[in-house]
Amino acid sequence: MTVIALAGNKGGSGKTTLAINLAAALARRGKVVLLDTDPQGSCVHWYNATDGDAPVQVHAAADDVDGAVRDNCDTSDYLLIDCPPSVNATQTLAALSLADKVLIPVVPSPLDIWAGLHVEPVLRQVMTHNPALQAMLVINQLEPQTRLSQLVRQALDELGLPTATTALRRRMAYRRAMLEGRSVLDMGKRGTEAAREIEQLIAELVD
Ligand SMILES: Nc1ncnc2c1ncn2[C@@H]1O[C@H](COP(=O)(O)OP(=O)(O)OP(=O)(O)O)[C@@H](O)[C@H]1O
Ligand SMILES: [Mg+2]
Repeated sequence: MTVIALAGNKGGSGKTTLAINLAAALARRGKVVLLDTDPQGSCVHWYNATDGDAPVQVHAAADDVDGAVRDNCDTSDYLLIDCPPSVNATQTLAALSLADKVLIPVVPSPLDIWAGLHVEPVLRQVMTHNPALQAMLVINQLEPQTRLSQLVRQALDELGLPTATTALRRRMAYRRAMLEGRSVLDMGKRGTEAAREIEQLIAELVD
């Protein structure tokens, strides 16, 4: 069983979008449970929009992250944990303590990158009791033609964490999929490019 947390210190960076789409893609490899530890409950909202045909189970777990991990770790191959937008939140710290990997999405914008500066010291602290934790930044909402996107990899080097080779572009498919209660893998032609980048990210992450 592999526990993958989606965390970060910035709202709207793409934690939930990644959690849902990675969960759906990993469900083609094994049993996946997605724990929603954000009191906003975005994954649960998505799950309710799937009308019962989601490829993964989603559980609200903001009140007891440890218990939810314990309850689901023996029965799933992949446990994904969507965290609230602060690395110091109780739920995030609990998730990081139990995770094998943490992905930190970052949007190519100075405010998002500055928010990321607070992540590495917290991870270092967590790793004193979870030394096997592997962390990776993931560029999200990339717009390759813009200067900010062209400079983002260099800027992320300042954060002291490795950056995934795969970046997710800003694509309507991610938003539409959420609205339709699907993942980008179930959008047919409309989701082809997005699904490809999700699969590429998984290849970097687990294959
Ligand atoms: N690659 C993308 N392309 C287009 N839209 C995106 C992409 N990633 C995320 N979004 C949109 O950006 C917004 C924020 O994404 P999301 O809710 O996944 O971020 P979050 O980090 O979970 O936010 P929060 O911190 O509030 O939980 C959403 O409207 C989502 O649909
Ligand atoms: Mg979220």
